Amino acid sequence: MTAFRLAHLSDIHFGGENREALAAATDWMAGEALDLVVVSGDLTRYGEVAEFRAAAAWLESLPHPRFVTPGNHDAPYLAWAERIVAPFRRYERHIGPAAAQEWRGGGVAVRGVNTARGAQPRLNWSKGQISQSQVRAAAAWFEPGDDLRIVVAHHPLIEMLGGPMTAKVWGGARAADRLAAARVDLVLTGHIHAPFTWPYPHGDGRTYAVGAGTLSMRERGVPAGFNLVEVEDGCFRITALAWTGARYEPYRTWALDRRSA
Ligand SMILES: [Fe+2]
Ligand SMILES: [Fe+2]
Repeated sequence: MTAFRLAHLSDIHFGGENREALAAATDWMAGEALDLVVVSGDLTRYGEVAEFRAAAAWLESLPHPRFVTPGNHDAPYLAWAERIVAPFRRYERHIGPAAAQEWRGGGVAVRGVNTARGAQPRLNWSKGQISQSQVRAAAAWFEPGDDLRIVVAHHPLIEMLGGPMTAKVWGGARAADRLAAARVDLVLTGHIHAPFTWPYPHGDGRTYAVGAGTLSMRERGVPAGFNLVEVEDGCFRITALAWTGARYEPYRTWALDRRSA
């Protein structure tokens, strides 16, 4: 089994970031042996160029490999025409590809899926979508030798019960079913600004939704923080770290059974 450690951050919302919490998280990561740093979207507050520049500079400063997906706040909020015609142009200019990012190393395979949209035929454009072709492509990307399979998206595909907000992802339940059938281990998401873990009610029950909190000032009943994900023999250990104002402390921990190969 593959030993692997990653930090999962989300919803930093540069322009409205929690500066102290973010600086402390950056320092904390610099002192840790991490195989990957995952950022699951909402890098900016309003998709402004200055916010993207700050996000890009911060990403550049990290000493670890990085894996980043966009969120609904990463399409420009005020530039309406651009939001509809080219919602992720700024993101791609400053951060990287918006769709179908891939990372593979040492038996670990990570695939990104963009669940954010510039516009949607419903009132609330902040909610998520995942198309059948996106799910098919993600599921088909994994190879037989991929011991550990991770999908990263911004919106939780299935609602967190009792959470502070909803994601209402169109196509989410069907996608969760399909990813469980593809033996995906973890689906890492953000958006609701609160950490959680939750086994999908599909497949063998060993595909887990894992949400990270926020490092922005927009807290939703949970302190600013991020997750440490440690992969051990037969187990995923998830630690949600919370910023106390002076240091990071474990806020919640989960030990999740890992499927045997
Ligand atoms: Fe957010
Ligand atoms: Fe979001």
